[in-house]
Amino acid sequence: MLRQLAPRGLLYKQSSSRLLAVWEQPLRSYSIKANTASSAKLQDIDPSKLSITRTTTPKELVPANELVFGKTFTDHMLSIEWTASDGWLPARITPYQNLSLDPASCVFHYAFECFEGMKAYKDSNGNVRLFRPTKNMERMNKSSARIALPTFDQAAMIQLISTFANMEQRFIPSTRGYSLYLRPTMIGTQRTLGVGPPGSALLYVIASPVGPYYPTGFKAISLEATDYAVRAWPGGVGDKKLGANYAPCILPQIQAATRGFHQNLWLFGEEEYVTEVGTMNMFVAIKNKKTGQKELLTAPLDGTILEGVTRDSVLSLAREKLAPEGWNIVERKYTMKELSDAAKEGRLLEAFGAGTAAIVSPIRNISWKGDLVDCGLRPEEEAGEIALRMKDWIEARQYGDEKHEWSYVVPQ
Ligand SMILES: Cc1ncc(COP(=O)(O)O)c(C=O)c1O
Repeated sequence: MLRQLAPRGLLYKQSSSRLLAVWEQPLRSYSIKANTASSAKLQDIDPSKLSITRTTTPKELVPANELVFGKTFTDHMLSIEWTASDGWLPARITPYQNLSLDPASCVFHYAFECFEGMKAYKDSNGNVRLFRPTKNMERMNKSSARIALPTFDQAAMIQLISTFANMEQRFIPSTRGYSLYLRPTMIGTQRTLGVGPPGSALLYVIASPVGPYYPTGFKAISLEATDYAVRAWPGGVGDKKLGANYAPCILPQIQAATRGFHQNLWLFGEEEYVTEVGTMNMFVAIKNKKTGQKELLTAPLDGTILEGVTRDSVLSLAREKLAPEGWNIVERKYTMKELSDAAKEGRLLEAFGAGTAAIVSPIRNISWKGDLVDCGLRPEEEAGEIALRMKDWIEARQYGDEKHEWSYVVPQ
């Protein structure tokens, strides 16, 4: 099956949208085949088979104001092994511990790894809530299928993650802005130097309590537009959450930092299309040059952009709440030159990144071709109106202040 994919992909390299359609097609049939096989003889994830071994040495809680993103972990972890012959084996919650892997495991050599980033929140009644967990599970299945790792039953996995999040709830501070960051990870574990589909895999989830991204209020960031390296390309895997997409992005980030910028802005192609900012989706609020209408603009999901859960939430909320105020909500390609022209003409109202970690991250300016493109904030302002409103709207649903289907209350 995999051998068939490469030539078909290559045939369509002229058109990125067509290419995407062609890639998704065989991949879907690949994962359906895997699932069909699993329903015929192989076991899918079965939450009723979960075993739990509690730690005998519970960790001391780090004071909420000392939490650093991704540095402290909870007492336990959730693990599920998969083999090509048996499917998903019974899930286990165990004390948080090191993995023991053969040095020849394929994850170390050919980057068979994908992951997710999602959060559990504590609401004012003490309930644990997940935010749109099906979106993360859907995306994880797309990522794993793309690198020939197994897919899984999404509802079963959400049930297991819920049990795990419930067990770790003492680590979730009740204060607004705090949450438990959950990191589902899947790796190929087969011991082989041969390049091929892994015959065994491990899906595990670890959890890290996190505080607000901007503890003392928003701080608008400065970006450097990167024109010498690309993050993703048509027909590539930029829309999948593969570990292999992240390591190559660090050097351009370090280079931007040495020149005094917080993050880099990924451009694509000779046209210099604006794609993503660091590890966030990019949004700009702009006045249309011809009509003067206000537009909230983001790049389309053309295969080079990660399908951010926050991006989707921002778009839905904008359609629900900003469109009735006269805003046009637009997913289309736009260039750095367009942004620079809009800034010079006073039409660039604000810009922000969107992602699970920060929700929204306001942008003050972008360094591009020796110019500093001003993104519309006044000197004393750290966030624009749309970014501020989006953060409030999204948090209201994450913390359950607003009853909404996006918020999944974990059964106690
Ligand atoms: C490259 C990239 N883009 C966008 C996002 C935002 O996605 P989400 O809103 O699902 O966190 C992420 C998140 O980690 C990312 O790594």
